[in-house]
Amino acid sequence: MKQKQVSSFVELTNRKLRVAVLASGTGSNLQALIDAQAKQDASYEIVVVLTDKPNAKALERAKNAGIAAYEVIPKTFATKNDYEQHLLVYLDNHGIDLVVLAGYMRIVGTTLLTAYEGRMINLHPSLLPSFQGIDAQKQAIEAGVKLTGCTIHFVDAGLDTGPIIAQSAVAVDYHDDEASLKQKIQVEEHKLIVSAVELIAEGRVIQYGRRVEIKYE
Ligand code: GAR
Repeated sequence: MKQKQVSSFVELTNRKLRVAVLASGTGSNLQALIDAQAKQDASYEIVVVLTDKPNAKALERAKNAGIAAYEVIPKTFATKNDYEQHLLVYLDNHGIDLVVLAGYMRIVGTTLLTAYEGRMINLHPSLLPSFQGIDAQKQAIEAGVKLTGCTIHFVDAGLDTGPIIAQSAVAVDYHDDEASLKQKIQVEEHKLIVSAVELIAEGRVIQYGRRVEIKYE
């Protein structure tokens, strides 16, 4: 039996989805979203980029694309709650519909989660539930799996445990190392993240408890 619907963005289909991207590093996934958004009929708009790392490349990518971007550095706040309250000010001021964690290397706390649960997604470099947490590519190599990949999921209170929206598989070659596998996975990530955000923007992603339905028609 189907569970009660938890979240859907159906009501947003007549305007662009307002997206915030949180990133800690290089921001190649942010760049994929920026590039896809440049298409004439994009269904979403990245309106703010936030980073927890000083001088993150993601910040530069956002600024080059004319997107508002801010560094919010956790250690400058007394508590995690204070830090996340500060993030919320930016998110609320920009009228954010969806928060995308794209290489945000920090566990989301209660403050942010409570405000955006069901409206926050994370990208993880493995086929969850395998290889949660850090160094997912290293974990995959050490486990000897022949297939790994990437996952987009709704964020919940656990570490990489939220309801899965989309996954893409990548073959692991015997000669792969962490770096080569990371590169192969990122090629898939760049496609998957764009497609997940577009599907959400088009109101095609509906969450029922642990399971997520994608409406292709
Ligand atoms: C991505 O590969 C993403 O899957 C990973 O960080 C990378 C960020 O790359 N995220 C995690 O490991 C989260 N647990 P990017 O900064 O070039 O987009």
